[in-house]
Order: sequence, then C-alpha cells, then structure tokens
Amino acid sequence: MALPNHLVAPSLLAADFTRLAEEIQMVNESEADWLHLDVMDGRFVPNITFGMLVVEAARKLCQKPLDVHLMIVEPERYIDAFRAAGADVITVHYEACPHLHRTLQQIKATGAQAGVALTPHTPVEVLEDILELTDLVCIMSVNPGFGGQKFIPRTIPRVRRLKELILAYQTPTRIEIDGGVGLHNAETLLQAGANVLVAGSSVFGAPNPREAVRQLKSIGIETLRF
Ligand code: DX5
Ligand code: ZN
Repeated sequence: MALPNHLVAPSLLAADFTRLAEEIQMVNESEADWLHLDVMDGRFVPNITFGMLVVEAARKLCQKPLDVHLMIVEPERYIDAFRAAGADVITVHYEACPHLHRTLQQIKATGAQAGVALTPHTPVEVLEDILELTDLVCIMSVNPGFGGQKFIPRTIPRVRRLKELILAYQTPTRIEIDGGVGLHNAETLLQAGANVLVAGSSVFGAPNPREAVRQLKSIGIETLRF
C-alpha cells in the first residue's frame, strides 16, 4: 500500500545539466511531488550552483511545485526575486539568518511556503520559538554544498526530536530530509517522522530515475508506527 502522506522531491543538482528539459520532463512524468532546487552562493557553502534564471527556466518546464533551497548568505535580499522566478517553497538557513522571524514573515508575505534548513550541527530545539511560522523544516543530513554525500546517521534522532516539538506545538510543519537519502534509509526516516524526502543522486543517478521515484513513493504505510 502506498504511503499517502509523504512527498518525494528529486533534487535537480544531480541531473544532467546538458539535458535539463528532459530531466524535468522525467520529473513531470514521475510520481514526484516537488522539484528541489539547490541555490548555492560560494559563501554560505563552498560551492556555487545557479540562481533565479535557472529557477525561472525550471518553472516554465516543470508541472510540480518548486522547492527552492537557498544556501546563501543574506537570503532576505533575494526572497522576492526567487518568488517571482516561480518558487513555491522557499527555504532559508537558520545559520544565515540573524533575524529569522522577520525573514520567515517576508517569505510568507510573498505567498510562498516558508522553510528553515538546519546544518547537521544545529540543534533542532533552536526552532522552538518560531516553529509556528514554518511550513517546513529541512534537516540537512549531509553538510550542505554538494550532492552525492554520505548520510549522517545522527539525523534520525534529530528527526524524532523535531517531530516531538511539532506535535507539542501542533504546527502543520513538514519535516524534510536533504542529503544522502535513498531506499536504504527512507523508511527509517519516515518512521522517525520525516514527510518530505529530497533525493538527488539516488533518483537522477539511478538506471531508471522514474522507477526510483516510484519506489521512494511506495514505501508502505503499514510498516510505519507513529
Ligand atoms: C546538498 C543539497 C542537496 C543535494 C542532495 O547541499 O542541499 O539537496 O542535492 O543530493 P543527494 O541526494 O545526492 O545527497
Ligand atoms: Zn537541498
């Protein structure tokens, strides 16, 4: 039986950039829920990827919501631009936002869903007082900056602790996991309370990416115990 309430978001970072239109078409034809787009500035993270232009191009091609992960310093300067480019979910990093409460309000004012990402060393408890402003919390399960890294196992107890906070405050916040996610750990993550799985190399690097999405989507609810 398919799990009805978890989302799968392939990360375009692992796609073949010489064939972006075809790769996005695969996402359209698959059971993927969102397309995840990693914006990196070479300052918050050591790598540089792409900005608004590529998000805008993806918007034209993609029939699914765009989940834009901003790994940049001073993200508040670019929120309106990414929204205008077509972002449906805009996620900023806790570590990049000295005025996170204001930044989340700014995202919501654009009409986008507001997300906060945490690097692996940031305790989930720092979000307690702004949880009600979040539509999504992204727990990074690798150090942000590159695709294809190994999943950090400490992520699992972090997901459980965040889930407890969400239940205590009764917010509709989704828990997204980003980095090293694949069939080998997806079920454990869902059992711990995650409900959005970002998957880069495990989808675009698979022999059949569409089938990889289907498998991530079809992890059985009957095995889950909340
Ligand atoms: C890493 C990015 C991830 C990355 C995930 O900084 O935020 O979204 O694309 O890639 P995989 O699934 O290959 O670890
Ligand atoms: Zn990401």
